[in-house]
Amino acid sequence: MKKAVVILSIVCFALVGFTGVNKYFIITNEDVALKVPKGFPKPHYRFKNNTPSPEIFVLGRKLFYDPILSRDSTISCASCHQRIAAFGHIDHALSHGINGLIGKRNVPALQNLIWKDAFMWDGGVNHLEVQPVSPLTNPIEMNESIAHVLEKLRQHKAYAEEFRIAFGDTVISSERLLKSLAQFTGLMISSNSRYDKYMRGEDTFSFAEKNGLEIFRNKCASCHEEPLFTDNSYRNNGLRPDTALKDKGRSSITGAQFDDYKFLVPSLRNVEMTYPYMHDGRFRKLKNVIDHYASPQNFAPGTAKELDEIGTLSEEDKKNLIAFLLALTDKTFLYDRRFVDPFMQ
Ligand code: HEC
Ligand code: HEC
Repeated sequence: MKKAVVILSIVCFALVGFTGVNKYFIITNEDVALKVPKGFPKPHYRFKNNTPSPEIFVLGRKLFYDPILSRDSTISCASCHQRIAAFGHIDHALSHGINGLIGKRNVPALQNLIWKDAFMWDGGVNHLEVQPVSPLTNPIEMNESIAHVLEKLRQHKAYAEEFRIAFGDTVISSERLLKSLAQFTGLMISSNSRYDKYMRGEDTFSFAEKNGLEIFRNKCASCHEEPLFTDNSYRNNGLRPDTALKDKGRSSITGAQFDDYKFLVPSLRNVEMTYPYMHDGRFRKLKNVIDHYASPQNFAPGTAKELDEIGTLSEEDKKNLIAFLLALTDKTFLYDRRFVDPFMQ
């Protein structure tokens, strides 16, 4: 019996070796079918004129992980958006781009993007397919031009064939580049945390988690609205402006003073893994975040009125809130094989 298992394993390894295909990385139709999770609203981005297919998704995945997209081929999307941090950047307050240049903002997690009507901390981009143009061309991120990326992809030995497999011919265009990236990032859906299971009646919450959920619903959910944990609005959540970065948030897009220091409400899904926190990564721990919300005396002028309602939080309340936030970690998403770096094959 044992012998049979050994022989079978050798045959399997040999097959992988001969064909060069690791089953782990194979994507099926089922893998790319959009399933709107129960209780989630209708998505904003519905893959119109960009119907997901395994081939296009696989191309998007490869491009996401390929540093060829940056000027000197050192930085990929995944250099900043790390899978295990829900595609944020663990332990980095500000993003790190080409030539070790430090960016202006904290790398946000990438999840449930198809429910967003605007991207970036200030909502400066309003379409998922256009979004990659910003990091690609940003001089301190990838410092590339779309034309030059396309040129490099056309000269690369593998990409013509991969675009053919995905789109039917070997044309490498910006539209195809952006659509395939949008298929990959758009299918990053987190909906299987312990919170989701609790809501579906598949798991139970501890006393602390239940209590935390109740406090959360009373004091936080007006902005961090369930089930996405954001209402996609721009708010001033009381942070004192950073005098070095001088980032005014939303008003840099709208030009309205009314929008000074407002930032897009981030989702709190997988918040355990996306530290440090806020647009400038100023808080390292969830405890620092909760202490901020519980210290109205430190709020900056212009703070949203909803924050007044938070009032005091006892040490017990704070612990319970954190217990609840940790139940938003979605291991199904964080360990999803579909999103694994294909260059690790
Ligand atoms: C140098 C680091 C870096 C690289 C490389 C990078 N990003 Fe980002 N990404 C960021 C930062 C920082 C933000 C937030 C920027 C802001 O708010 O101004 C962001 C924002 C985003 C968002 C919006 C998320 C949201 O919820 O608003 C998406 C989507 C995204 N990036 C996808 C990509 C893709 C696709 C690539 C590769 C083409 C890429 N990024 C490359 C750092 C990076
Ligand atoms: C008035 C709306 C509002 C309310 C109420 C609110 N938040 Fe926030 N929250 C925000 C905004 C806006 C940000 C991003 C601010 C920034 O980066 O400048 C944020 C950021 C956060 C972050 C950091 C997430 C990350 O990825 O960086 C956490 C954690 C958080 N809030 C938890 C809470 C908790 C817990 C409560 C309740 C005690 C709460 N929030 C109440 C608007 C709100």
